[in-house]
Amino acid sequence: MNFDYTEEHLAVRDAAREFAQTELLPGVIDRDTEAKFPHEQIKKMGELGFMGMMVDPKYNGGGMDTVSYVLAMEEISKIDASASVSMSVNNSLVCWGLEKYGTEAQKEKYLKPLATGEIIGAFCLSEPEAGSDATSQKTEAVKDGDHYILNGTKNWITNGSTASVYLVIAQTDPAKGHKGISAFIVEKGWDGFVIGKKEDKLGIRGSDTHSLMFTDVKVPVENRIGEEGFGFNFAMETLNGGRIGIAAQALGIASGAYELALAYSKERKAFGKPISQHQAIQFKLADMATSIEAARLLVIKSAWLKDQGKDYSHASAMAKLYASQVAMEVTVEAVQVHGGYGYVKEYHVERLMRDAKITQIYEGTSEIQKIVISRGILR
Ligand code: CAA
Repeated sequence: MNFDYTEEHLAVRDAAREFAQTELLPGVIDRDTEAKFPHEQIKKMGELGFMGMMVDPKYNGGGMDTVSYVLAMEEISKIDASASVSMSVNNSLVCWGLEKYGTEAQKEKYLKPLATGEIIGAFCLSEPEAGSDATSQKTEAVKDGDHYILNGTKNWITNGSTASVYLVIAQTDPAKGHKGISAFIVEKGWDGFVIGKKEDKLGIRGSDTHSLMFTDVKVPVENRIGEEGFGFNFAMETLNGGRIGIAAQALGIASGAYELALAYSKERKAFGKPISQHQAIQFKLADMATSIEAARLLVIKSAWLKDQGKDYSHASAMAKLYASQVAMEVTVEAVQVHGGYGYVKEYHVERLMRDAKITQIYEGTSEIQKIVISRGILR
C-alpha cells in the first residue's frame, strides 16, 4: 500500500493553494458579507483548468484523476467555500454527468465550454417538496413531437443565476414512479425559464443559490440525457461522485479552520505563555488534527476507488458523512481557540463555521448518507 501522492498530485495541490492564497483570500470577507458571487475568481479558475479537471482533454478538460480533484477542492475550500461549491457542482455533477451519459452532440455543444469554465452549469434536482425524498419530483416534462414541454419549480440551485446550462430532472411518466423520471439539458434564456429569488443564506454566502421556474419551456428531444426513465438513476449516479467533491469541501473547511487555530495558538499569549503551551489548547489541536486526518483518508479512498473504476457509492457517502461532521466540530473548536477574536469576521473562522453547516445538508443530508451506507452494509 502506498500513501504517497504523485508529483502531479502535489503540483495540482500547490497550484490550487497558491491560487487560493493570492486570488481568493483577498476580498473573501467582503464577498461573504455582501453575498457577492466570485465572478472574476471563477473565471480565473476556469483558465487554470479547475472547472473541468477530470474531463477528457478531447472535450477540453484537464484529464486529471479524482485524487487531484479532491486535493484542489480541499485547498480552494480552505479559503473560499463559496467558490469551491461552484467548482464542485461544475466538475462532479454537470461535467461528469454529461461526459458519462451525454451524446457526442451534447458533449460538443455543452461539455466543451463547461470544461474550460467558459460557461458554468447547474444541477437541478431539489424541489420545494422533493429534497431528501428525491423520487417525489413534481416538475413534469410532457413529450410533444420533437420537444418536451417542461413545467415546474426547482429550489436551492447552486449557480442558479450564473449558470448557462442546467441539468434538470423531471417526471416524464408519473405512473412509473422513479422509473418515469428523465434528465434534460436546459439553456438559460429559453422562453418560460425564469430565475427566481436568490437565497439569503447562513453560510457559503458568496455562492449563488436560487429557485428556478419553468413554464411551458420547450426542450428539444435531443437535449434529453440518456433514455426516457433514466433520470433518477442518472441523478443518483451523479450524486455518488458529487459527494466526493462535497466531502473534500468539508475537509478543506475543517483543515482551513484548524490551520488558522494552530497559527493563532502560537501567537496569542495568556497567563505568560502562548496558548499553544496550555494543555487545554493542545488537546483541542490534537483532536482536530486527528479527526481531519481520518476524514482525509476517507475522502482520498473514495476518490481512489472512483479512479480505479471500483464501486464508490458507499465510500463517498461515508466520506461525506464523516468529513461534514468533522467540518462542523473542528470549526466550532477553531472559534473557541480564537476566543473573542474567533467571533469576529476578520479572523475567518466564524465564516468557516457558518460554511461548514451546509456540508451536512446539500448533496444529501447526513441522514441520507446513513441510508446509503446502511443499505450498502445490509445489501
Ligand atoms: N447510487 C446509485 N443508484 C442508486 C443510489 C445510489 N447511491 N441510490 C438509489 N439508487 C437507485 C436504486 O438502485 C434504484 O434503481 P433501480 O430502480 O434501477 O434498481 C433507484 O435509484 C431507486 O432507489 P430507491 O428505491 O432505493 O430510492 P429511495 O427513494 O428509497 O431512496 C435516496 C433514494 C437514497 C433516499 C435518494 O432519494 C437520495 O439520495 N436522496 C437525496 C437527494 C440528494 O442528494 N439531493 C441533493 C440535491 S443536489 C445538490 O445539493 C447539489 C448542490 O447544489 C450542491
